[in-house]
Amino acid sequence: MGVGQTSARHPKIGLLQLFREGLLIYNGAMDWHTRYLQQAQWTAQLRAYLFQKAGLPTAQHVLDLGCGTGALLDGLSVKPGAAVFGLDLSLSALKQASSHALEAPLTCADGACLPYADSVFDLVFCHFVLLWTPDPLRVVTEMRRVTRPGGGVLALAEPDYGGRIDYPVELAALGRWQAESLRQQGAEPEMGRKLVGIFARAGLERVETGVMGGEWTDPASPKDAKMEWDVLETDLAGRVPLNEIQKMKTLDAAARQSGERVLFVPTFYAWGAA
Ligand SMILES: C[S@@+](CC[C@H](N)C(=O)[O-])C[C@H]1O[C@@H](n2cnc3c(N)ncnc32)[C@H](O)[C@@H]1O
Repeated sequence: MGVGQTSARHPKIGLLQLFREGLLIYNGAMDWHTRYLQQAQWTAQLRAYLFQKAGLPTAQHVLDLGCGTGALLDGLSVKPGAAVFGLDLSLSALKQASSHALEAPLTCADGACLPYADSVFDLVFCHFVLLWTPDPLRVVTEMRRVTRPGGGVLALAEPDYGGRIDYPVELAALGRWQAESLRQQGAEPEMGRKLVGIFARAGLERVETGVMGGEWTDPASPKDAKMEWDVLETDLAGRVPLNEIQKMKTLDAAARQSGERVLFVPTFYAWGAA
């Protein structure tokens, strides 16, 4: 099914399609789908646990809000016949999603104003999304509205760069630069710590929250380091002098090589019942 279409099998799901071009991050300079797949690997274990708790195995209608390029849409373990919908503000992201998740009905719209009737989903989730939204309370309130009473509302991964740990200490500036760059791009780098309050204010019940752990099997992995630096260099371009960035890159490579490097961004999750 193509971008912006809704499923004829589920006429209750609304039809409004707002074709707005998305955020600056889809500027073509990065392979964002590969990045999102990498981020999805980080949260794989936690997702399995939370999806179970939030009712994915029995859900009939599921919404991935801010689905981006479809990194999560494709591999969801839903029951046979269940429908997984994707929604995103960015049309270019959805174009990519349509090639990765062939079955999913995709809609281009703002999460703060969902084009669905009340109580139509059994589970609504988002993954690395709320930090990018100007009014996350409104988005979570909308997530609750479109979820049936007792259904699950789940924010899987909201980072908090204010609590970022970089070691060796010479690398600490990286965290500050990235947080500042996110702010300048309109994101809230400390969304993680705000998440549980937003869920409470949105009226969700039995809210459970926590922070993802960090496990590093191969801190020197050249693939991970390259991806991390691709993102950083995209974020910092024009904001931090090139020679400063290069200096950090060299320090980072040396620390990874010696096995000393620690990079941890506390990443929060929350789920509750509508
Ligand atoms: C970091 S990406 C994450 C994509 C996907 N959830 C994943 O984990 O692979 C954030 C996504 O949220 C979308 N987004 C940001 N604000 C939004 C809003 N108000 N409504 C819907 N989507 C939004 C962006 O367009 C982007 O695709």
